Amino acid sequence: MTKIVNSWNDFDPLKHVIVGRADHSCVPPEEPATSEKVPIDSPMRGMWGPRPLETVEKANAQLDNLARVLEERGVKVDRPSPLQWNQPVITPDFRTGSMMTCMPPRDTLLTIGNEIIEAAMSFRCRYWEYLAFRPLLSQYFNEDPEFLWSQAPRPRLSDKSYKHNYYDERISLEERLVRTANKDFVTTEEEILFDAADVLRLGKDLFIQHGLTTNRKAMEWFKRKYPDFRIHAVNFPGDPYPIHIDATFVPLRPGLIINNPHRKLPEAQRKIFEKNDWQIVDAAMPAHKEPPPLCYSSVWLSMNCLVLDHKTVIVEASETNQLEQMDKLGMNVIPIHFRDAYAFGGGLHCSTADVYREGTCLDYFPNQDFEDVTRV
Ligand code: NVA
Repeated sequence: MTKIVNSWNDFDPLKHVIVGRADHSCVPPEEPATSEKVPIDSPMRGMWGPRPLETVEKANAQLDNLARVLEERGVKVDRPSPLQWNQPVITPDFRTGSMMTCMPPRDTLLTIGNEIIEAAMSFRCRYWEYLAFRPLLSQYFNEDPEFLWSQAPRPRLSDKSYKHNYYDERISLEERLVRTANKDFVTTEEEILFDAADVLRLGKDLFIQHGLTTNRKAMEWFKRKYPDFRIHAVNFPGDPYPIHIDATFVPLRPGLIINNPHRKLPEAQRKIFEKNDWQIVDAAMPAHKEPPPLCYSSVWLSMNCLVLDHKTVIVEASETNQLEQMDKLGMNVIPIHFRDAYAFGGGLHCSTADVYREGTCLDYFPNQDFEDVTRV
């Protein structure tokens, strides 16, 4: 019997990780939570079904290479068991034409210490995605007597969970930005909804992005679940599609965060970092002007790096500005090619989920002697 699951942040030495797989990935049909996120001029609008096989093979080659690079550095790598995603999801509350993928485990699984939580995701097409990770979680449960295996309350994802016609195609980018600033999102407060990738773990403090995939009720759930933690709601008004925090606000080591310069953390919300001597640095501009074809994410996947320890980080090889900035910030950078995987669910951070990092639950924000506007 050994300890298998332990991770309190994104920067302590990584020893064991899950790397996703692209097999059978589909572009899901539109649904209340997702149609809004496909940009109006994107070729993905109105298109759905299995992704072309050659793109799946290319993505898998880069995911396999990531796994190999990690293993060469002594990190144990586990892989999920993809389902045939091209099947409908039917529940008493909804029906949608297909599922999506298990390429980005970071969205589905949230590791907090010795616990892994299967998230309460808001996309109907992602309703069964956690099943791809069940063989691994079951194995951890059998082998690690301290592993806590949890699932957030399963959302029903009925029509009550969404604001309908929230994004009319005539709504301009400016109006979307106003909505983000006003914290007016497509999901309602009917039930607890969150993607794991909206939760930034910094020891005793969880910073949770309020956006299209995570609502306030989720934050209230975290607050009650972890009474000894401090739960903070953060939002980034410059992001017209706020989905997942890991191309927006990315910690590199204790005391240092890179922040997307187009999605700055508002002044009032920065106080907790300033009062505790954390440095927030503008991230370098992406090297690319456009994301790859059929990709949901923005060019800011440039920031979506995988930190291996306080001095080492994996960055996408063509992101030359980001590589250079990491180097200047004192990190040893391992460049690897990963753009072929982007369309399947994101970058290097998205495509992984922590199982074990060394270290314990630290208090990085001991100075609480001020009004913290982010506290839930
Ligand atoms: N939604 C983010 C990506 C998160 C990994 C973006 O498109 O920039």
